[in-house]
Amino acid sequence: MKVGFLQTSPVFGEKSKNINIVVSRIKQLNADLVVLPELFNTGYQFKSKDEVVSLAEKIPDGKTTQALINISKEKHIYIVAGLAEQGKGRCYNSAVLTGPDGFVDSYRKLHLFYNEKQWFVPGDTKLRVYDIGHARIGIMICFDWFFPEVARYLAVKGADIICHPSNLVLPYCPQAMITRCIENRVFAVTANRIGVEKRTGKALAFIGASQIIGTKGEILYRASSDHEESIVIKINAKKAHDKQITQLNHIFNDRRIKFDTV
Ligand code: ACM
Repeated sequence: MKVGFLQTSPVFGEKSKNINIVVSRIKQLNADLVVLPELFNTGYQFKSKDEVVSLAEKIPDGKTTQALINISKEKHIYIVAGLAEQGKGRCYNSAVLTGPDGFVDSYRKLHLFYNEKQWFVPGDTKLRVYDIGHARIGIMICFDWFFPEVARYLAVKGADIICHPSNLVLPYCPQAMITRCIENRVFAVTANRIGVEKRTGKALAFIGASQIIGTKGEILYRASSDHEESIVIKINAKKAHDKQITQLNHIFNDRRIKFDTV
């Protein structure tokens, strides 16, 4: 199957512009699945709760999800994309999954990073795995990577590919995701952004380095730190079904998780 990501450079608050750029880039792709960064339509560094509320959207009725649904249908492609969600009196840092038949589902980020705690409430949706025909996919958002139980849970639930919309500022994630893939025998697509936002006193520099990692930790593609990129590669998602480390070791069956009874 053909999987990819867009590494983007959104302009803060310019939703229509950011959406249009992404839609026109997806139009050029030949892919089954593409992952976009976290908060791809708004940018990241909010200044106030009012600003978050004014930029957040209902899912799936908001214009961003509707635009993704339209391009998913037109291109017959699954898209995982991060955006700020307007819930009932609260906002979530969310991701949507859209596909050839329209809206599929959304996920609300479980682990909020730093100032995100001022703007969003922690996610309350389940971690789910979706059969998209070519593969089963799971979704986590950016800082969720720091909590290995998220990737493990998705893998145990049967995910072949972890789709990982991100806005990375710390340097560790690209290397850490290699381990997440090795320890779970899954693929991972981390879609990050580039650029700097300095809307408050503290400048945030996003590290790029979006990547597609194979089931044995191979870096199948890693993007630059400073260029927008649209990447699609071919993978055999079924490789993620083989959880045998040696003939006598199985990644999931060998786990000793009941430590208190040992
Ligand atoms: C992050 O979770 N955006 C670092």
